[in-house]
Formats: sequence, structure tokens, C-alpha cells
Amino acid sequence: MKIIRVKDKAEGSKKAFELIKAAIENGATTLGLATGSTPEDLYKEMIASDIDFSQMTSINLDEYVGLDGSSPQSYRYFMNKHLFDAKPFKQTFVPNGAAADLEKEAADYEEIVDRHPIDIQILGIGHNAHIGFNEPGTHFEATTHVVDLTESTINANKIYFDKVEDVPTKAVSMGLASIMKSKEVILMAWGEGKADAIAAMVNGQQTEEVPASILQNHADVVVIVDEAAASKL
Ligand code: GLP
Repeated sequence: MKIIRVKDKAEGSKKAFELIKAAIENGATTLGLATGSTPEDLYKEMIASDIDFSQMTSINLDEYVGLDGSSPQSYRYFMNKHLFDAKPFKQTFVPNGAAADLEKEAADYEEIVDRHPIDIQILGIGHNAHIGFNEPGTHFEATTHVVDLTESTINANKIYFDKVEDVPTKAVSMGLASIMKSKEVILMAWGEGKADAIAAMVNGQQTEEVPASILQNHADVVVIVDEAAASKL
């Protein structure tokens, strides 16, 4: 893993943007995208740039079960608002959390991942070192699947909902094996709350209890961390 330490989120987001820009100049056509507060400034950089994404494909990591794209808390809505409305892509994939048959949705989504190999995957990280919605204990071999969210994740995400009871308890998420298929990974983390997860991912033992530790096996991972998130490295 290559670790890039930056002062803050603004500097780190610019750094991530430069890496994506270079990858696109080198022929990348498919971006793996993430939601959450971590990539928000990166998407602002992408919107402010003169890069034309209209021939590119994006594949998002995950979606809440039970929310369709018109729900403001859905990840489809988040992506439209934070990136796609301003910068259209040729095609954008986000799992359908409102699908009647979620197992089929997950299997179909993995086929999408296989049909459009991801050149560069953007990741944030949860406080418990989850990536996508792969909670501790998820098998490293898992492909896209239906996930039960942990209490820690539900609590972390309740700020986006009126009350904690409104936070979905399940999601459809690309699995750890799906994420490992991408050619290059950029994982970003800002703030002290991520310091333990970053230390466990980088220096800890590789274990399914620390989902992000699977990335120790990936050949091309860049970790961009601000001072607070790097404080336990
Ligand atoms: C959610 C998302 C992850 C994200 C994580 C951290 O669980 N599924 O993709 O990395 O939250 O969120 P934030 O960036 O808001 O800290």
C-alpha cells in the first residue's frame, strides 16, 4: 500500500483528483465510485474540472435496501446530486435497493462489474474498517451480496435520516472480492474517527474482522489520509 499523508480533506481530495485525471489520460474508462462524506470534495473537483466523462462508465459500491433512486437518502440520489447531474457519464450503475428479488439484483450486479472492469476504485472506510458495506466478518471471497448493517454503521449513517429507525438495516453491496477485481484502488480517510480503522488496515493482521485489510493483497492501492486519520500509523 502506498500511503500519502496530506494536511486535510481539501488537499487530499485534490490529490485523489490528480490520480484519477492521470488514470483517465492513460486510458481509464470505468470508475468505481463511493458515497458518504469522504468523497464529496473529490466530486466537487471532478465537477470543476474540464474533464469530459460522457464516454465513461461508473459503477457504485452499494445501495440501501428499500430505498429507490427518488429517495433523498438513497445512494443513487446522492450520486446524481453530487456528481452525475453536473457531469454526465455514458452510463452509471448503482445497485437497485428497491428490487423485488434482491438476490437476483446482487448476482446481476456482479455481472455488471465483470462486464465493465473497474480501472480505478474510489473508497472511503467505516469506523469498523468496512469498505462498501462489507461489515466485519464478511468473507474475503464475497461478491455482490445482500448485507445486514451493523449497529455501528447504522449509527454513523443516521445523520442523513430524521431518526435512527428510518435508517435501512440492509444494503446491497459489492463484495470484497468484487472490489479486489479493480485495477487500482484509492482509499481516502479524513479525521480522527478513522485513525483506528486506518491503522488496522495498514499495519494490522489480515483478517475478515477488518474488512479493509484485504487490500494488503491488492497490487495497486493508494491510501490518502489527513493528519488525524494517519495519527495511529
Ligand atoms: C458507508 C458507505 C461507505 C463509506 C462509509 C464511510 O457505510 N457504504 O462506502 O465509505 O459509509 O462514510 P463517510 O465517508 O461518510 O465517513
